[in-house]
Amino acid sequence: MKTLIKNGTIVTSSDTFMGDLLIENEKISGIASSITQEVDDIIDASGKLVIPGGIDVHTHFQLPVKGMLSADGFESGSRSAVYGGVTTFIDFAHQVKGEPPMKALDDRIEEAHGETYIDFGLHYGITDFSDDLLKMVPQFISRGVPSFKLYMVYEGLMSNDAVIYAMLQAVREFGGLVIVHAENSHLVDFLTDKLRDAGKLDIPWLPRSRPDFVEIEAIRRILYLTEVTKSRLYTVHVSTGEGAALIASAKGRGVLAFGETCPQYLALTEEIYNRPESYLFTCNPPLRTRTDSEALWKGLSMGALQVISTDHCSFTREQKETGKADFTKVPNGLPGIETLLPLSFSEGVMKGRLSPGQWVDCISTNPAKMFGLYPLKGTLSPGADADVVVFDPEKKQVVQPEILHSNVDYSPYIGMEIQGWPEITISRGRVLLKDGKFQGKKDWGKFIPRKYEDPASPSWSL
Ligand code: URP
Ligand code: ZN
Repeated sequence: MKTLIKNGTIVTSSDTFMGDLLIENEKISGIASSITQEVDDIIDASGKLVIPGGIDVHTHFQLPVKGMLSADGFESGSRSAVYGGVTTFIDFAHQVKGEPPMKALDDRIEEAHGETYIDFGLHYGITDFSDDLLKMVPQFISRGVPSFKLYMVYEGLMSNDAVIYAMLQAVREFGGLVIVHAENSHLVDFLTDKLRDAGKLDIPWLPRSRPDFVEIEAIRRILYLTEVTKSRLYTVHVSTGEGAALIASAKGRGVLAFGETCPQYLALTEEIYNRPESYLFTCNPPLRTRTDSEALWKGLSMGALQVISTDHCSFTREQKETGKADFTKVPNGLPGIETLLPLSFSEGVMKGRLSPGQWVDCISTNPAKMFGLYPLKGTLSPGADADVVVFDPEKKQVVQPEILHSNVDYSPYIGMEIQGWPEITISRGRVLLKDGKFQGKKDWGKFIPRKYEDPASPSWSL
């Protein structure tokens, strides 16, 4: 099967030009200013951008939070991804206390089996560190899971500094990457207790329980441990400008430190917690100030941060309402996989904060490089998987829950006018979305074992 995408504006991290893209079966086989070939299907991309499919390296499908399960499973989460032009996601296999460590990975792959329209990978979430687990790091890496998530916060999940140190040493020795949720747990507990004592648990107080220094201290500490162990670190959902600056300055000293931020920290600010339905916007870390979001955009454009991912962890209104009067009870997390590309294009490229190439870097190429998917994914080069999106840069949409396709009945971006929306989503050569019609098959997505490349000597640069 041959498909030719003609007359599009091809945008990659290094180039923007008018041209054609040839797909043969599951792979890209040609890219040039003009391709003439006998093909089975021609897609006219005049006036559209042709980009590598979005890669969201931070999703939580069906995650247990505060006695609830996040509303999107692999099926609805990946369906919503397709509508948003995301063709690969990386979710988590979290260790289960008392069970053999590898079982969590096998179980999670099984859970996703036959339930995802697009390809996926998994990070391993460490919640019960032991010497035995440490010895298994090479086994996880050889199974294509070279990224290990540590939480510096959350009772039952969090790792202390000794565990962080040991894991940083392990990835230094065996390869792979530590990824971290950086918040100082003791400070969160202390500040929350004080607010509780003062009867201040309603939602507008959420940011006061996790102020910026809660994140900044944790990032500073783990960067220092990364530096002394000469290891590698990726910080998820950086929400503060200072957090991004710390990563940049560590990088300047030669530390292999990388980071992501998320659309919620780029497009929304903490004033939202004074709205009547403020509980719908609760996430950890919380939303910050306009100064922070502008600094995060700057951080992306200057290379302090490399990735925009979503931390998609969706709950329905009904689920969120269980904590509407108490931020300690509300299930934390926001949906976002479907709006990742449109929102980052609209707020980033259309507002002059990112060039089109930088945008593609942040939502596709850098995530692929950081997490061992490149050059299989994240690029439009011949030989890469034909994960391709035809993106309409002119299409305007006001975000309403009705236009979205996840299992939730609201969007944190409700009412925002967004310019730029995916029109066609292709995964490994198969058209999953075209003319508004979803053509996905639930068993199309495959688990992709990832092969981590040491960023100290990669075949690519960031
Ligand atoms: O509030 C968030 N970010 N929920 C998802 C789970 C986590 O904390 O990363
Ligand atoms: Zn997360």
